Amino acid sequence: MDTELLEKTARELVAPGRGILAADESNGTMSSRLEAVGVEPSPETRRAYRANIFSTPEYESAISGVILFDETIRQTMDDGKPIPEYLASRGIHPGIKVDTGAKELAHHSGEKVTEGLDGLRERCMEYFALGARFAKWRAVIRIGDGIPSEANISTNAHALARYAAICQEQGLVPIIEPEVLMDGDHNSQTCFDVTARILDATFAECEIQGVHIPGALLKPNMVLPGKSCEDQGTREKAAQMTVDCLTAHVPHELPGIVFLSGGQSDEDATAHLNLMNSMAVEHPWELSYSYGRALLAHALQTWASGSNGDSQSAFAHRAAMNSLARSGDWSSELEI
Ligand code: 13P
Repeated sequence: MDTELLEKTARELVAPGRGILAADESNGTMSSRLEAVGVEPSPETRRAYRANIFSTPEYESAISGVILFDETIRQTMDDGKPIPEYLASRGIHPGIKVDTGAKELAHHSGEKVTEGLDGLRERCMEYFALGARFAKWRAVIRIGDGIPSEANISTNAHALARYAAICQEQGLVPIIEPEVLMDGDHNSQTCFDVTARILDATFAECEIQGVHIPGALLKPNMVLPGKSCEDQGTREKAAQMTVDCLTAHVPHELPGIVFLSGGQSDEDATAHLNLMNSMAVEHPWELSYSYGRALLAHALQTWASGSNGDSQSAFAHRAAMNSLARSGDWSSELEI
């Protein structure tokens, strides 16, 4: 394991003012999103949309890495340049989603385990050769009546740790993503407790598997009430509970935490991050973003309506807002 390379890549991905763009929707998810805005999904429309986003002027100061899907890492920009090569030429690390999706967990109705360990070493070797320098694996934890079960927590934690070890062996920084979903009417304390459980289990497995924590990143949910919970609380409460949960359950030698947006509004995702980075206490890790929808939802709609330039501006704006949130310098007056 090249610990020096892993630590360097991890640090670069969470460098001041920079965060990650998650553009790794699977073909199925990306196709549904295109259909929702009236665009016929195809390899070419998926490529054209993403190539337009990637060629946005001057977003490098806000984006350190872009997570790609298997189809995209093999595609080219409009001028024929391979996408990973193009991103690297702009000082942006190409990343790759390496799990093969969340599948039904046997004997546990409504719960899922993320698959993709078979052949992962060989796929990582190929992705590294294609230019990838980091990877992502997303586990999905649903809160509901009697769930998550211990089986759901332990199978996903085990898989995340095995994935992380294999990636590190092949020179890819693993983004460890245990996502507790916002679906449901649970309150924020329940989200806190479930998030704590999956984080404890995941880092315990990482220790067993020998994962090098300074060469990895964590991509968690924020601690929020379920979308249908009557008490939505305040942004301040969400930021405080998130930091409290992470402080107690994430190793301090981890270089960075890159949140997912998970269905929050664009502005909530930025505001929560900003509040966390404005706290008087110093956090042991960098607190950054690896947003998908909160960086691109508006840009996708605008692209579908026919304006490449406006789509790029929409993306550049959200990237700039989140970049400011890295240092607590965002404010709602900066929104347009
Ligand atoms: P969202 O920010 O849209 O939740 O996506 C991030 C991601 O990569 C989920 O796996």
